[in-house]
Amino acid sequence: MSRPIILGIVGDSAAGKTTLTRGIAQVLGPENVTIICTDDYHKYDRKQRAEIGITALHPDCNHLDIMQQHLSLLRTGQPILKPVYSHTTGTFEAPVYVKPNKFVIVEGLLGYSTRAARDCYDVKVYLAPPESIRTSWKVKRDTQKRGYTEEQVLAELEKREPDSEQFIRPQRQWSDIVVSFYPPSDDINNTNGHLNVRLVLRPTIPHPDFTKILDFCDNTMSAIRLGLDRDMGKPVDVLEVDGHATLEQVNKLEHLICSDMPYLKNVCNREVNPEIGKVAGTTGETIQSYPLAITQLLTTYHILKATQIYQ
Ligand code: G6P
Repeated sequence: MSRPIILGIVGDSAAGKTTLTRGIAQVLGPENVTIICTDDYHKYDRKQRAEIGITALHPDCNHLDIMQQHLSLLRTGQPILKPVYSHTTGTFEAPVYVKPNKFVIVEGLLGYSTRAARDCYDVKVYLAPPESIRTSWKVKRDTQKRGYTEEQVLAELEKREPDSEQFIRPQRQWSDIVVSFYPPSDDINNTNGHLNVRLVLRPTIPHPDFTKILDFCDNTMSAIRLGLDRDMGKPVDVLEVDGHATLEQVNKLEHLICSDMPYLKNVCNREVNPEIGKVAGTTGETIQSYPLAITQLLTTYHILKATQIYQ
């Protein structure tokens, strides 16, 4: 029996969820993908939140029970009547009828906060950029797109910090992949815009055999590195790709990921798909990045693996 495959992308505000979601949808073909943003399940509008003194990050500020019900419905291929929260006005709009496509990407703040919700996903990604980078992304987005001043954004971040710590960050433990884009150590302020990526690969899902990387990379000095580490106390594999990796190195890594996934072979051929690794985030800025391309590709690999198993 065929059912939609559900990918979760969870992380704090302005962690890069929408950028990654759009990139993956591009790789899978937007017509095959339904994107759900769990901000739509906020319980209170912006004004009410300010009056009550609650942040959007608090579980009590969200209809997590309804979100969970909707995830279960989507997982079995059924339609939902989804609420709509407008980031432009800070108010709710008329609900929309959503029928799931072959793939459903669920992005948001609290997607892994309950057991029943977690059980709905086939693949769970958690985005964890360093806080300094997240702050600069949030300032940029909220001043350019959401009508806030820099001071307001910084004050809001400070106000939200206890909830980030208590409710958002612990969700990292439930993810299959933790994605952290970070500036290279010789460019902390990221002036040239080439972020590296660190991918924590938990053994909760079957990853491609990355040990073959060692065939084409001298592992310590290379722009692509594979290693072992601990994440939240548990042993994990870690794959790192630097922003300055060459196209040749990236191609080799992509072919390794694609080798047992015929659909992806076409996708990672840049002549066929020049859009891979190129994506516009919510600030509207277009980023062309190999670390992003690899992250998109690996996540897509997992979605397709789940498809082979469950469809
Ligand atoms: C952050 C989060 C959003 C959330 C919003 C609510 O910006 O990234 O996901 O919906 O907070 O706050 P708002 O600015 O709309 O009042």
